[in-house]
Amino acid sequence: MTDQRLPVPAGFAADARLNADALAAANVLADQDPELFWTRVATRLEWWRFPTQIKDVSYQLEDFHIRWYADGVLNASVNCLDRHLSTRGDKTALIWERDDPNLPAEHLSYRALHEQVCRAANALRALGVQKGDRVTIYLPMIPEAVVAMLACARIGAIHSVVFGGFSPESLIGRIHDCQSKLIITADEGLRGGKKVPLKANVDIALKARECSTVETVLVVRHTGSPVAMQVPRDRDWRELLAMQAPVAAAEPMNAEDPLFILYTSGSTGKPKGVLHTTGGYLTYAAFTHEAVFDLREDDIYWCTADVGWVTGHSYIVYGPLANGATSVLFEGVPTYPDASRCWQVIDRHQVTIFYTAPTAIRALMREGEAPVKSCSRQSLRLLGSVGEPINPEAWLWYHRVVGDERCPVVDTWWQTETGGILISPLPGATELKPGSATRPLPGIRAALVDSEGRELEGATSGNLILKDSWPGQMRTVYGDHARFIETYFKTYPGSYFTGDGARRDEDGYYWITGRVDDVINVSGHRIGTAEVESAIIEHQAVAESAVVGYPHDIKGQGIYAYVTLKAGLEANDALKQEINATVRRVIGAIAAPDVIQWAPGLPKTRSGKIMRRILRKIAADELDALGDVSTLADPAVVQSLVDGRKR
Ligand code: PRX
Repeated sequence: MTDQRLPVPAGFAADARLNADALAAANVLADQDPELFWTRVATRLEWWRFPTQIKDVSYQLEDFHIRWYADGVLNASVNCLDRHLSTRGDKTALIWERDDPNLPAEHLSYRALHEQVCRAANALRALGVQKGDRVTIYLPMIPEAVVAMLACARIGAIHSVVFGGFSPESLIGRIHDCQSKLIITADEGLRGGKKVPLKANVDIALKARECSTVETVLVVRHTGSPVAMQVPRDRDWRELLAMQAPVAAAEPMNAEDPLFILYTSGSTGKPKGVLHTTGGYLTYAAFTHEAVFDLREDDIYWCTADVGWVTGHSYIVYGPLANGATSVLFEGVPTYPDASRCWQVIDRHQVTIFYTAPTAIRALMREGEAPVKSCSRQSLRLLGSVGEPINPEAWLWYHRVVGDERCPVVDTWWQTETGGILISPLPGATELKPGSATRPLPGIRAALVDSEGRELEGATSGNLILKDSWPGQMRTVYGDHARFIETYFKTYPGSYFTGDGARRDEDGYYWITGRVDDVINVSGHRIGTAEVESAIIEHQAVAESAVVGYPHDIKGQGIYAYVTLKAGLEANDALKQEINATVRRVIGAIAAPDVIQWAPGLPKTRSGKIMRRILRKIAADELDALGDVSTLADPAVVQSLVDGRKR
């Protein structure tokens, strides 16, 4: 099934932004004269000072630095808003589709969005927020989330958006790490009819000593439920904005000035604050958004991600708005009130480009074709996938049932760290293979290496690295540059290590197989096993825990936790529920284990290292493939876990 190939549809090839010839020419230029290639890419933005220094990068540890467009000056919010006012002022920038399908959608023009952003920028300035200060944004999928991000960008404040599903404890860690001065939140979020107590979560978080840097909390009235307002700390967003002038000067930003921090999970320790800067990030997000989605002036583009993740940053906010596109901002979930919601929204707003995650596709596929076929979807011309490997079966269903075999599917591989898409088909140029992200984009030097770092040629499998930089690359881990270098540049000296494994076929197409480190990808969300383990041992009954991923039909991977209780305690289901609740409290519902297995002991080497390879096999129910267990301190532990798994 995976050998299938789908040619570029004739209509696409005929007037694509990048057809096969243009792509070939771009690849040649990017190989032969990368400086010129990336200079040309940068001309798509409006710079107050166009850069003369294009690329200044060294991955060598003794002289490590990553700088792009270093002498350029610009402002991201000006690129996303002001620049469009003369030509696209009345064009819709955002179509806000609410959680409740019975409420009307709201259309915000570029002019209206500009005015809101200016008012918010003035409000932030009036509250003493200055260039370089950090602002935490903890909002649902409402237009104010976009306004808040762009208002920060306008005044040069660094935003840190925290996904609304994270718990107060997670919020504390993220506020403390970047020493936020101000928080923008809402009374409540609304997802699938359920309320999320955002302001109450902020109140809990701000009781912590670690959050003493926070001076102000701006509260957007969204659901209207009463919330406690602590005067003078808490202020009403709308009241404050109404008092501000509708225009605001934009801060001139150096290309390498920070734009935002976004926390993401790694294989060890607490989440890392991935830092992106202004010029390179915005150039790359805008360039890839136009190229990969073959963007047209009249497209209605819909990316279903949440602004709390990088996909929301690059492909709801910065890329589409820098390109002057019309975007749908969806507050709800794909299955509420029923499985036809996405297709109804597509018909309602005449969506032409739809970008979602494999987990959503698999969940909707399970509901059968009827909910899809009850909607027309005639407006669709292109489909996208992101966040985790898409299995060929889901890919083909997406193509056949959702896209009526008319719409190419672009499977886009990238990461929070990469800022934008690195490996993806271009719909007007690339022959598709279901399940493959196909080839690197022009200027991206992907390669596969073995565990010793030797580069592998031809059709093969290995660890995915990037041999050179691109403008959208993260610049540091906020506050911990040593960790940045350690995590990404030490494993394979001279290259960036992605943490992913991949296969490359005889056509040079990449098939991403998933993480090769201790990160699991649950429904497209990255979760560090170490984080879940440390949440589990916060439960007083737990002595030890080891967490691994296992294949899950809908989520891609599920969370499987082995838990050893303290001596003398009785294992029972109530305790499992308590442990589950502990993880929800400490991290949030997205990290709650799907399976908890009691473990009388964990398989460890004689030096005390947990052998996760064996735990992954048991979790995956591959009990015949456990491999060599002779190096374990106590091989009998494995048998007891296997017996426990069978029960
Ligand atoms: O394992 C890869 C997987 O998601 C990881 C990055 O997660 P995050 O930083 O949260 O960003 C998600 C959105 C870009 C990668 O290391 N991943 C992402 N896209 C794909 C993918 N795996 C396979 N195919 C993809 N298209």
